[in-house]
Amino acid sequence: MTTLEVDLAGIKLRNPTILASGVMGETGESLLKVAEAGAGGLVTKSIGLEPRKGYPNPTLVELPDGYINAMGLPGPGIEAFAEEMEVALRSRVPIIGSLFAAIPEDFTTLAGKMEDYGAAAVELNLSCPHAKGYGMEVGIDPDAVRSIVSSVKGAVGIPVMAKLTPNTHRLVEVARAVEAAGGDAIVAVNTVKAMAISVEARRPILYNRTGGLSGPAIKGVGLRCVYELHEAVALPIVGVGGIERSGDVLEYMMAGASAVQVGSAVGRKGLAVFREITDGLMSYMGAHDLGDLREIVGVAHAH
Ligand SMILES: Cc1cc2nc3c(=O)[nH]c(=O)nc-3n(C[C@H](O)[C@H](O)[C@H](O)COP(=O)(O)O)c2cc1C
Repeated sequence: MTTLEVDLAGIKLRNPTILASGVMGETGESLLKVAEAGAGGLVTKSIGLEPRKGYPNPTLVELPDGYINAMGLPGPGIEAFAEEMEVALRSRVPIIGSLFAAIPEDFTTLAGKMEDYGAAAVELNLSCPHAKGYGMEVGIDPDAVRSIVSSVKGAVGIPVMAKLTPNTHRLVEVARAVEAAGGDAIVAVNTVKAMAISVEARRPILYNRTGGLSGPAIKGVGLRCVYELHEAVALPIVGVGGIERSGDVLEYMMAGASAVQVGSAVGRKGLAVFREITDGLMSYMGAHDLGDLREIVGVAHAH
């Protein structure tokens, strides 16, 4: 029997496509819509301890092959997110709570709340490229990553995933720190630091000047990171970056991903992208006599 089901660090997903953080993950209702559209898992928008406004506009630049965003991690804070989680849980699709903080203690508090709210796992955002003091600023330091992951692991019973940035030459060292600290999975990658300039206004377009590039423009970067990580750590890897069709998912899985996340494609192609991808995966499996997607994870390393 052909199955799209995958097991990710003990979480059962009906298919390997997960909604990436920051795209339609702000409210319980929007998460429900993505579940109805066929996603196998849902990651919330990254949530912090306190409400945050984020940056003033413009926060998003649309390019032919992706976006550059610098939202500044806007959100209602963890207390108010309880209600959204209550709604999202009605989907029966595993919800992964994405968290941002600067220090281990705050990550631990947030993770404990997410576990109480019913999250199937937490995803630590160690990789946002444009929020001062958060994300990438902690996620490129293996020692900081080790203490954050081990502190969260000591406090919750649900799987702990670490979302890494491609904006470092220490990617593999950081991943090894996640593994050494007992992390359950690695998510790779967050956006690539980038910018765009208005030639009319003669100034950077984004309020924050720089932001994170996503979409097909970064697929090659994401794939390379997943491939390198598969050689370096034994943890399951979730591939993210520029995934829009089933062929992209197959490439990521062959590079070593056990599951994938889809972000910008939801904006570029609409929610139908999830069914389009899973239908495509089923056709590929049928054509290649493949019963289980596990058979292709990492196969590109044999060459
Ligand atoms: C508008 C926007 C907001 C995002 N917000 C977050 C966020 O809050 N937390 C996070 O970990 N990643 C965030 N991301 C990054 C995505 O989750 C993903 O890692 C990245 O966009 C690459 O995947 P994609 O090419 O499929 O979009 C955001 C991306 C976009 C486009």
